[in-house]
Amino acid sequence: MPADFLPSRADAPRTLWRGASLATMAPGKPWGWIEDGALLTEGARIAWVGAATELPARLRADDEIELPGGVLTPGLIDAHTHLVYGGHRAREFELRLQGATYEEISRAGGGIRSTVAATRAATDEELLRSALKRAQALMSEGVTTLEIKSGYGLSEHHEARCLRVARRVGERLPLTVRTSALAAHALPPEFEGRPDAYIAAILDWLPRWHAEGLVDAVDGFCENIAFSASQMQRVFDAARALGLPVKLHAEQLSDCGGSEMAAQYRALSCDHLEYLSPAGVQALAASGTVAMLLPGAFYFLREKQLPPVGALREAGVPMAIATDHNPGSSPTLSPLLMLNMACTLFRMTPEEALAGMTRHAAQALGLGHSHGQLSTGRQADFVHWAVDHPNELAYQFGHKPCQLRVHAGVPDAA
Ligand code: NIG
Ligand code: FE
Repeated sequence: MPADFLPSRADAPRTLWRGASLATMAPGKPWGWIEDGALLTEGARIAWVGAATELPARLRADDEIELPGGVLTPGLIDAHTHLVYGGHRAREFELRLQGATYEEISRAGGGIRSTVAATRAATDEELLRSALKRAQALMSEGVTTLEIKSGYGLSEHHEARCLRVARRVGERLPLTVRTSALAAHALPPEFEGRPDAYIAAILDWLPRWHAEGLVDAVDGFCENIAFSASQMQRVFDAARALGLPVKLHAEQLSDCGGSEMAAQYRALSCDHLEYLSPAGVQALAASGTVAMLLPGAFYFLREKQLPPVGALREAGVPMAIATDHNPGSSPTLSPLLMLNMACTLFRMTPEEALAGMTRHAAQALGLGHSHGQLSTGRQADFVHWAVDHPNELAYQFGHKPCQLRVHAGVPDAA
């Protein structure tokens, strides 16, 4: 890991933040805790972190900000979202409450495909406006980095449109955005009954999206209502040829062996994982793939099968947590509620949950060396919380403890 990821710049303004304790989330001690800490930013990077009593006497700052107690943590990283889409699926929610299952609705042509129709019908402006609103809601709870997937366009034109909207969200807001191309999300109506032809089409489109700079990673939905592990393998081979990292929605509704296949491609993450087998756990451990757990979808689909958190922990697989914001299986915009649910539903510890939205979420985006911890040389993304201890972030739900969000050294305007 480079000690100085962002280069030091003598002319960058230096701001000293003090008066709060720090949950740096650096590995080594619980929470990376520093009681009564201080943090120096130099432009967009962190230049010094430590106890206030250990501040070097010769340390120069242009500005000093005295915080009224509380805790600083790394900015939250929501590393799995489907933020760009048209319409909503409230009617489908009602149908599920009356007994229809997610699979049944999907097989009847609803589910993802109904959002595809609404997304294709929406203008670029409409897609951007709704995505910006959703991103701002996430930011109000401390999110500074956001992954946004495509997956509701399912044609060369409409997937590219959604990826461009995702890029514009990152340009318009003080937020780091990483995109994932999720064309292999569902079979579009034009390819009904021809899944292999659709996979072939994706292989044709991907290099052009990549050439336009739209793709940071390639994702897919490996499931019996979506694509098989061998179909996803063809997409991953194409990603590999372009030098793009991969990730996979795997083992959400059944065990299709997606995780073991993705591990062979050193996937950044495998996501959902309720039906992950012991062999799948070992495969993730061996490949260093992050297990991305999504308690919002587990809760909203009223899933009964828990992801194997104990086995993942024992095998040393890094676990991340995200909102999975999407209109069908997880229409939440509350990362803090996800921290709570990671503990109450998945029995993770509050510290594991916060690591899941900071250090491990960064790793799931390929940003493990530059984001997700408060340490020298990393991007200065952090949040000031009105709490005495970071365990309160997972303990409370429905609260608004975010006092201030700082992205790349710049605090949000009050
Ligand atoms: O992450 N699992 C597949 N994709 C989404 C759901 C998409 C939808 O229902 O619109 C998920 O849960
Ligand atoms: Fe998802």
